[in-house]
Amino acid sequence: MKRFFYPLALAGLLACSTTQTTTAPATSAVLATPVPAATPVITDKAMVVSAHPEATRVGVEILRKGGNAYDAAVAVQFALAVVFPVAGNIGGGGFLLYRGADGSEGALDFRETAPAAATRDMYLDQQGNVIPDLSTLGHLAAGVPGTVAGMAELHQKLGKLPWKDVVQPAVDLAAKGVVLTEKEAAGLNRTTFFSPARFELPGEGQMEWGDYAKHLGKSAAAFKKEGIEYSGPSSQDLAALYNPYKRPSRGAWQPGDTLRLRGLARTLERIRDQGRAGFYEGTTAVLIVQEMQRGKGIITKQDLANYQPKWRTPLHGKYRGYEVLTFPPPSSGGVALLQMLQMLEPYNLGKAGWHSPQATHWITEAQRRVYADRATYLGDPDFGRVPVAQLLEKPYNKQRMASTLPYRATPSAQVTAGAGLPAYESDQTTHYNIVDAQGNAVSCTTTLNGAYGSKVVVAGAGFLLNNEMDDFSSKPGTPNAYGLVGGAANAIAPGKRMLSSMTPTILTKSKKVALVAGTPGGSTIITSVLQAILNTIDYGMNAQQAVGAPRLHHQWLPDQIDVEEGALLPAAKDTLQARGYRLNPRAPWGRMEVIRVLPGGKLEGGADPRGDDSAQGY
Ligand code: DON
Repeated sequence: MKRFFYPLALAGLLACSTTQTTTAPATSAVLATPVPAATPVITDKAMVVSAHPEATRVGVEILRKGGNAYDAAVAVQFALAVVFPVAGNIGGGGFLLYRGADGSEGALDFRETAPAAATRDMYLDQQGNVIPDLSTLGHLAAGVPGTVAGMAELHQKLGKLPWKDVVQPAVDLAAKGVVLTEKEAAGLNRTTFFSPARFELPGEGQMEWGDYAKHLGKSAAAFKKEGIEYSGPSSQDLAALYNPYKRPSRGAWQPGDTLRLRGLARTLERIRDQGRAGFYEGTTAVLIVQEMQRGKGIITKQDLANYQPKWRTPLHGKYRGYEVLTFPPPSSGGVALLQMLQMLEPYNLGKAGWHSPQATHWITEAQRRVYADRATYLGDPDFGRVPVAQLLEKPYNKQRMASTLPYRATPSAQVTAGAGLPAYESDQTTHYNIVDAQGNAVSCTTTLNGAYGSKVVVAGAGFLLNNEMDDFSSKPGTPNAYGLVGGAANAIAPGKRMLSSMTPTILTKSKKVALVAGTPGGSTIITSVLQAILNTIDYGMNAQQAVGAPRLHHQWLPDQIDVEEGALLPAAKDTLQARGYRLNPRAPWGRMEVIRVLPGGKLEGGADPRGDDSAQGY
């Protein structure tokens, strides 16, 4: 049932006093969009919100057993790798932001890195043109995974329960099998996975899946010689072991089917028993390198052994009495979010009304400007200087907004990155939030990049590899899969981290956690997190309304506002178009998760209704 929350809309209808002095043209009817009503989940003490009910359940169980938010984060991360293969992962990376009940804080960067053999022009042909799909599909698209090293680091520093206890739930889920939801079945059916059967093997010719399984069965003894401890599955296990995501021969996956992940269960057992070495060394490492060789990938044993997660210093900003804690480079998200909040604070968005033409105008102009900055200045801070401090100076952002026209869109062609800053010298995801009973908070965005990443399953190890290399700028000015452009700051280099938009964020008020937020969505992540903050602070929405409310997005280039269905009233669309904005209707994006800590201490959870997302707690 759809109900609307009219008071906000009325507020918008009644008043639109702006800080601008120019007279409004006749077209600027002030019309705020009604906010769809929605009921959040409320708990007393602890809460987990993630993209999948089973992963959320695992997190809550760990908390109930006496684990803290960090233990639960590790358990949820591994559970998502099993139950949510579209984005949950051990073959990808991510960013985890935490804020302890004691005021401690940290930003753990377990982003993938470019393999040592990567080169700046590796996705270009001889004419210097980008080769289609090379950075998004197949083995060459994968960066060195960071997830397992990141989880081991997090647990070692902050975990309370034994490592084995937090990994075990994922092993159990993989061994038992995952019952597919409608969305998951559809996602798998839509995807063509790379499987060993797609490759010609020396002397064997092109093999069908069944032949390949037999081939592997025959050579099981050879695994030992190659350094793989392998118990030798029964032949019926082989299909599941080598490509568990392949459609059953009978036809398509159906909702309710069980996806058995025996290979993944074994990999998770190795991680459970050996920690990071269970992934970056030994059997799993050998299987990854073999997979690379089969598909002409470039990740080596050395790349895996060398991978290190990094602790970064979280960024701090302020917005309407809240302290905003967010993720620094190699994410562009935190910088861009804080810039936008600075740009928008002078405007009375609440009074203008939610998704009113005037509020949309201000927000879009801020978005346009920060994405222009992103394209020029942001990259891996370990490989060049990112002018973070300058980008976050109040006068800089004030001056950036000074070129905003009161009742007219500024064409993106006239907006470039802010001048005078030191140049950079020398680019399907999921989010979870956790608040434990002690008040520790975790906000983590983790990704394979595209849906099912590179679509490469590591044969024998049962997991998918990321296609994160596409987040680098393959060629200056050429858009990536999210339409983002970049330049030298985000060029490919060995060992470098590709620029990200992931924006795990935590707001505090009076030194207490007030809001935990984050989402997938590629380039839209930053503007979605912005909207979650504006929705709760400026528009008084509860957590579920804030995540469910339809969204808008502008990223400088292309010069258009992406519009989810229901995000703008028809009259608001007319007004915006009259002001020179191009509106682009777009299918729903993002899977925003929010936890609000209410003034009395209760927790309010919002799980994005666009997916199977779930908020649970106690
Ligand atoms: O790090 C990034 O910004 C991207 N790899 C995130 C991709 C993403 O969110 C896809 N999800 N829908």
